[in-house]
Amino acid sequence: MLTTLMLFASLSAQAHVPAGDYTHKPILTDISTIRALNLPLLAKEESIGVGYTIITPEIENKISALSHSQNKCAGFQALDDKVAFNSQSLFSELAQLRKHVEANEQFEKSLSFRSQNIAFNPAIETAVNQVDETELRGWVEWLSSFPTRYNKSSSPNQHVDALKLRLDGMMMAAAVKAEVSLIDHTSTKQKSIRVRIPGTTNPDEIVVLGGHLDSISGFFGGGAAPGADDNASGSSNLLQALRIVLEKGQPQRTIEFFWYAGEESGLLGSAEIAKQYKREGKTVVAVLQLDMTLFPGDGEFVLGSMTDFTSAWLRQYLEEINSLYLKGRIIYDKCGYGCSDHASWFQQGYPTLMPFEASFGRMNSNIHTARDVIDNNSSFKHSAFFSKIAVVFALDLANSSNKQPF
Ligand code: BES
Ligand code: ZN
Repeated sequence: MLTTLMLFASLSAQAHVPAGDYTHKPILTDISTIRALNLPLLAKEESIGVGYTIITPEIENKISALSHSQNKCAGFQALDDKVAFNSQSLFSELAQLRKHVEANEQFEKSLSFRSQNIAFNPAIETAVNQVDETELRGWVEWLSSFPTRYNKSSSPNQHVDALKLRLDGMMMAAAVKAEVSLIDHTSTKQKSIRVRIPGTTNPDEIVVLGGHLDSISGFFGGGAAPGADDNASGSSNLLQALRIVLEKGQPQRTIEFFWYAGEESGLLGSAEIAKQYKREGKTVVAVLQLDMTLFPGDGEFVLGSMTDFTSAWLRQYLEEINSLYLKGRIIYDKCGYGCSDHASWFQQGYPTLMPFEASFGRMNSNIHTARDVIDNNSSFKHSAFFSKIAVVFALDLANSSNKQPF
């Protein structure tokens, strides 16, 4: 179905709201929320059910209440000032999003979508078997022991610096060449972390694996925020996958692992990184996002594969690596808005995948509270499944010429 993009007259009027005036804040959210609260619909993208509107602090509270009643979190993505207060930028952001959504829809209907004929590789199966639940638990325990990892806390980089030190240690012990760096941002004081393993034959083709390292809790965000599931879990899957990938030698393509800053305050770190990569013309072959993997809401080894802000090619790729190596059950669902860092990359036109702990409605309801800790409902067996996805994603894609065929 062809998508429709509508820009309403009110958009140009709202464009005169001065930057930094947060009495009126433009956001991206799902159209049903906009309709339910009778808000002005500035521009919409029917195919993925999202639209832009302008909110006041009171309306922000109403959206939060509505989202929480539907088991969502904030329920919207705030836009950075440069885009938010310029109607031309809003329009071109949505047009860009529509272009990527349409391309994916058309590809999904095409014959080439059916099979990618990925070859089984016994070395990858061996690597998958190196995923260890005890190691995973150790990382989640450590990350969730920081009182908070909130990007607006008084020491927003305490856990970032601590993890950087541990990564430096891992690199010194590694046989392959790899580099750890801290990435500064303009939208937050918190830094993101990147580990780059340069490719041998195709160093300019990058395979990205990432998740957010920050956490949030309480009404103003600054309460106790262990964030065990959201997102010490995905961050730990990446740390474990990194350990295994480093043992396998230099890949053909470049692999980059990211632990993003300030996701909970509006995808801040990943948005800056993805925009910079696009500006610099970098080739990112595929992006894996891991955000929440510890709560088996639909049962162990049942995972949700998000269909919005993700790529048909990679969702099909997940099906195939699942039959070859993982043997879980995949159910399809959507967030309904740009709910995590994959949206930042997708908006810049890069192919993304977001496997999630469960279907959207059956996710952990303790996230964003002091109760997001390791408890009887946590399953490291379930979470280990996502470390395995990361291992296959890195080792298979970074040693192949497979890429999105459009
Ligand atoms: N981990 C959540 C997102 C999530 C929730 C993904 C449920 C899949 C299912 C994430 O950290 C988060 O809270 N995101 C915000 C949006 C962001 C733009 C501030 C949210 O969902 O409200
Ligand atoms: Zn999260």
